[in-house]
Amino acid sequence: MARIFSGIQPSGSLHIGNYLGAVKNWVELQHKYESFFCIVDYHAITVPYEPADLRARTADMALSLLAAGLDPSKCTLFVQSMVPEHTELAWIFNTLTPLGELERQTQFKEKASREESVPAGLLNYPVLQAADILLYRAELVPVGEDQLQHLELSRDIARKWNARFGAGFFQEPKALLTPTRRIMGLDGQAKMSKSLGNTVDLLEEPASIWEKLKPAVTDPARVRRTDPGTPEVCNIYHLHKALSPAATVEHVAVQCRTAGWGCIDCKKVLHESMEKELAPIRARAKEIAANPKKMKDDLAAGAAHARTEAQKTMREVKNKMGLT
Ligand code: AMP
Ligand code: TRP
Repeated sequence: MARIFSGIQPSGSLHIGNYLGAVKNWVELQHKYESFFCIVDYHAITVPYEPADLRARTADMALSLLAAGLDPSKCTLFVQSMVPEHTELAWIFNTLTPLGELERQTQFKEKASREESVPAGLLNYPVLQAADILLYRAELVPVGEDQLQHLELSRDIARKWNARFGAGFFQEPKALLTPTRRIMGLDGQAKMSKSLGNTVDLLEEPASIWEKLKPAVTDPARVRRTDPGTPEVCNIYHLHKALSPAATVEHVAVQCRTAGWGCIDCKKVLHESMEKELAPIRARAKEIAANPKKMKDDLAAGAAHARTEAQKTMREVKNKMGLT
């Protein structure tokens, strides 16, 4: 069975961009691959944060992932800081990674522009990401489109290490994209992202979701109820494509083009489709939250298994590099 690895930052609860772009795919992949899923708290500390807050967000993320359908008996789910080999391998990779490559990363440029003083950890973020993946010698990495550049760098690092210390030791990991590789935020302006406040959260209550959907941006050509629209330019239509059955998506497109429906009608149907997807997830989240001991034990078992595998790789890496 081929191995996959993916990571997610503990940014509190998941939003449906993370879910539709990545995590929903993980839930299916865990049955087909030997799967490692990691809550990357060492990545999260590259921007300013509060310790108590981070701890709570890490627990919330674990809860959301389990509620979304990750099954600890099928996959290895763990928290990055419980497996110290991640930072150990990242240090090694830092010695091989050209500064220029790091400075060129779009995510770095974006995040750095928001900080007054830029920590080196923000620059080296993708090196830690390469270590995450290569520590498990994973072949495939299921992520959203925004991670492709980081993954390219992981491949470069694998290639460099192999050329210097051991041909063929690391495979070059490949991205595994979903059809919904980029979900736009409700503002219709940028990708759905926690930091932009344009999200629908995975565990959000239906009434609160509706309050957000009502004012969400649609096709600007539909000023009056009778103005026909172009579904392809409408964010709500793209959410239908990610969440509604094919027949509904087709119906929505026709109603939009002919002004059969107003945008609110269309949003009501989307809200129903969301509920079908999200109600069972919220129910599972309540069950998991009622038994915090089980979640803690599951994460500890995940980390123990991950660490055993990580140590195997580190033994060989250090040996080939002349380290003790
Ligand atoms: P992050 O929250 O940045 O750690 O992202 C976790 C996963 O969700 C990554 O695989 C991202 O590629 C994916 N992701 C984040 N935002 C979106 C979005 N708006 N659309 C699709 N995928 C996303
Ligand atoms: N950088 C990724 C993100 O923001 C999170 C991440 C960290 C990751 N390590 C990873 C993703 C390893 C895939 C593989 O989404």
